[in-house]
Parts: sequence; C-alpha cells; structure tokens
Amino acid sequence: MTLNASSTALWPYPCWIAHRGAGDLAPENTMAAFRLGAEHGFGMFECDVRLSADGEPYLLHDDLLDRTTNGRGQAALQPWDALSRLDAGSWHGRPYAGEPLMRLESLARWLLALGLMVNLEIKPSPGDEERTGRVVANHVARLWSQAHVMPLLSSFNVTALKAARNAQPDLPRALLIDQWAQDSIRTAQELGCRAMVVNHRYLDERKIDAIHQADMKALTYTVNNADRAATLWLSGLDGLITDRIDVFEPQARLGAHPGRLILATDLMLV
Ligand code: G3P
Ligand code: MG
Repeated sequence: MTLNASSTALWPYPCWIAHRGAGDLAPENTMAAFRLGAEHGFGMFECDVRLSADGEPYLLHDDLLDRTTNGRGQAALQPWDALSRLDAGSWHGRPYAGEPLMRLESLARWLLALGLMVNLEIKPSPGDEERTGRVVANHVARLWSQAHVMPLLSSFNVTALKAARNAQPDLPRALLIDQWAQDSIRTAQELGCRAMVVNHRYLDERKIDAIHQADMKALTYTVNNADRAATLWLSGLDGLITDRIDVFEPQARLGAHPGRLILATDLMLV
C-alpha cells in the first residue's frame, strides 16, 4: 500500500529523524551526512530542498552559498551545472574536502536502495515559493513513484506547501511552526497536513493533544538534549528531529553489515 495524504490512520515513519543528515557531525545535507546518519542507526532524515536557477531540486539550507560551500552569493542565481562543481565539505573539515552538493534525485536513489525515509523541507528562495513547492512535489512523485512510503514534505512557507498540494495532492505534508500562533493548527488543517513539526521550545503536552485532536501527528525540531526528548516522548510526541545522532542512536549500529551501506553509495548520481 502507498501512503498518501489521505491515509490518515497510517503513520509509517520512524520517530527518530536525523537533522540535515547527521546534525553537526558531517557537512549538512550532503551524502557524507546521510551515510553517517544511517551508520548511527537512523532510518529517517530531514533535509532542506531548494531549486537551482534552472529548476533542479537540490539540498542546501541557506539562501546564500557562503556558509556551507566555497561559492559566494545567492544560490538562486546559479544553474545546477555551476552548483554541482562547488565544494560543500571543506567548510566542515579536511576529511570532507570536495564533498559535492547533492541533487534530490541522488538522494532518492540512495534512500530507495536502502529502504530509508525522508522528511523533505521545502526551502524556497525568496520570491520562488510557488515554483519550488510545485517542482519539488512533482519531482518527488516521479522519483518515488514505485515506493511504498512517500517522503514527508514540510515547509514553514504556506505558499510553497499550497503549491505542493495543488501539484501532488496525495503526497503527505507537514506545516513547520517556528512560533506558535492561535491559528497554527487551523492553518495546517487548511493545507491538508498530516502533521505539524513544531519548534520544541513551543511544544508541550497540551499542544500535542490539540494537534492529535485535529487528527494530525505532532513532530518537533531540533531536540539535542536527552531530558527534553524524554519529556516530549512522555507527552505523546510522534517524531523528533535531532542533530545529536551520537547521543540518540535509535537502532543498533549497522557496523556488522557495513558493506551494504558502502555498496549502496555506489548507486549515487551526483
Ligand atoms: O525541518 C526542521 C528544521 O530543519 C527547520 O529549521 O532552519 O534547521 O531548516 P532549519
Ligand atoms: Mg530544515
């Protein structure tokens, strides 16, 4: 069975989610990060997806290239051919020198080869909200067309989520909430979301209950403290995004079978 936006009873996603692949332990949103997160036992990853100037979906958090690549300026101005030649690893440290930016297509191939899941945060460049939501949703529907579980699409941006819904209404969606507001739940419902992903500073048992009563799942970001995580799990939380893949290891390490992971990376297309 394929999970879609209307399958309200089913929630097939793991409750532990590695932020940007591996938190701070590897260069965010790169293959190296996802590989490390998987080695630490994570079965689901959060990452940030935006569009190149020529419409290629790829992974990058910031609007600017400066912090996490050797490029400069607005990422939105660059075609994929130029982006693909940037170094997105050296900023983190010498072991990752030359690590490239990653196309969504490459990530899809790796995840599908290993049966891993993903929360794709749609991160539109300013002014590109509608196109980003629509194009990312259409690519996801194509890339995961044979999958049993589709990626969970999320965004802080309502325009991008609406565009994703209009393009591919069956893909599961989540509204990201950085500041809780009176109408947060209503906004998520109007977008047909199956979940809300709330900044943990604003989440408590009462809000988790309210989200559940609205027939949605309650997820949170970015929890790096074990006590805080325990409090939220006891409050009924459904999913937690963390940087601390070294503190929270949701499954046994895959060290006994490293060959499977290494072989799967050979399928990657960058
Ligand atoms: O998707 C959860 C979290 O990643 C949202 O914040 O800035 O880390 O993308 P940010
Ligand atoms: Mg994010």
